[in-house]
Amino acid sequence: MNQDELKALVGQAALQYVVPGQIVGVGTGSTVNKFIEALASMKDQIKGAVSSSEASTARLKALGIPVLDSNEVVELAVYIDGADEINGQGHMVKGGGAALTREKIVAAQSKVFVCIADESKLVSVLGAFPVPVEVIPMSSARIMAQFASMGGQAQVRMKDGQALVTDNGQHILDVKGLQITDPVAFEAQVSQWPGVVTVGVFAYQKAHVCLLGTSAGVKTLKF
Ligand code: 5RP
Repeated sequence: MNQDELKALVGQAALQYVVPGQIVGVGTGSTVNKFIEALASMKDQIKGAVSSSEASTARLKALGIPVLDSNEVVELAVYIDGADEINGQGHMVKGGGAALTREKIVAAQSKVFVCIADESKLVSVLGAFPVPVEVIPMSSARIMAQFASMGGQAQVRMKDGQALVTDNGQHILDVKGLQITDPVAFEAQVSQWPGVVTVGVFAYQKAHVCLLGTSAGVKTLKF
């Protein structure tokens, strides 16, 4: 099976975690897009979705799935999202699709985080994938210097020759060269730096379950 087929497999498998009659939290990315396609088959059984990006909102609406404001919903039973990396404790690097801030917000209001990923995303130590950090633009240079002092090389993410602007009007730094052996401490530390909106290490909002697409089928990891 190729990577696209593995993503479709876990996107379909995630339907078993969707609670009929409830609102589901929906992440962002190519794996989640497969989940959204699958979710359309049970759209009449759910009240709707809380979305983590403008891109997912557009896809959900195009398939006739109502999208609710996160402020209208106190708690979600489940949040389904992909990851750029996940370790054996359910800690993740996320934000490859620049949606990390809203992803962390929706994850925080959800009881269970179900990560859907192909097997290439499972790692022993986080950091080989450059860690996305959403920042207030005027703080970029200082935050890049702070990462340099801890051995990381940060770059402003570009799109069409200009700094990419997130759904929240901010910029993204991608930080290479980190070996994140203590994701909880790393997330706590970087989150405190002035100008950091969201660090793309999800250790506090870690996954509870990972549906991992492998050539032998879907493997369920529980953390
Ligand atoms: C978006 C994300 C995605 O979940 C992550 O980038 C994985 O994406 P994909 O499913 O396309 O590999 O964090 O901000």
